Amino acid sequence: MTRESMPHVVALCGSLRDESRTKVLLESLLETARKTGATTELVDLRSYELPSLHAVESEPPDADRLRATIDDADSVALGTPNYHGSYTGSLKDALDYCRREEFAGTTVGLLEVAGGEFPGSAIAHLRTVSRTLHAWPLPTDVAVPNARTMITDEEIADEAVAERVRQLGRDLVAYADVSRYPETVSRGTATETESEADD
Ligand SMILES: Cc1cc2nc3c(=O)[nH]c(=O)nc-3n(C[C@H](O)[C@H](O)[C@H](O)COP(=O)(O)O)c2cc1C
Repeated sequence: MTRESMPHVVALCGSLRDESRTKVLLESLLETARKTGATTELVDLRSYELPSLHAVESEPPDADRLRATIDDADSVALGTPNYHGSYTGSLKDALDYCRREEFAGTTVGLLEVAGGEFPGSAIAHLRTVSRTLHAWPLPTDVAVPNARTMITDEEIADEAVAERVRQLGRDLVAYADVSRYPETVSRGTATETESEADD
């Protein structure tokens, strides 16, 4: 969806844990987005009933609720813990209910939180998923290793990580609606060509 006024940034949290460190990152990101002029929403998948696709006969009503939320977003942050080198099953189940209709042209930011030292693979997998859904993943990835020391007492303890999260929050606002950029650029080019022709 596109809008003329404030961009709308939605964050999806792939962890269902009460004390989720991924959620801490996403809350900080959304706070920055609000300060940068966006409206925001954090999707807590615990309040959505989304069994694995086709596990039940009729489609759950929350599938529509999720699709409407994504459809309304100009930018989406996908945050996940690293589970066995990838993103979580809960996030996969949620994304399986979404279609290109909701994600096409939407700017996407990716965050991963790992207990170990080498995060990044979950982000790589989510980048592929984002592209497949025709979304526009940003290059400003946030991959946090050693989660227990980096995120403590519901705060980001490491200033470099905190700043990286804020940067992604600002980028999700700055590049919201990024898929419309070619229109803007071609308008600029046309004007230049016209003015050159006038010379
Ligand atoms: C099933 C499972 C698999 C995990 N696999 C990995 C892994 O492969 N690599 C890693 O660094 N951490 C792994 N972890 C640790 C989580 O990434 C880490 O605890 C993370 O902070 C959890 O995020 P959350 O606090 O948002 O729930 C795993 C945790 C679980 C529960």
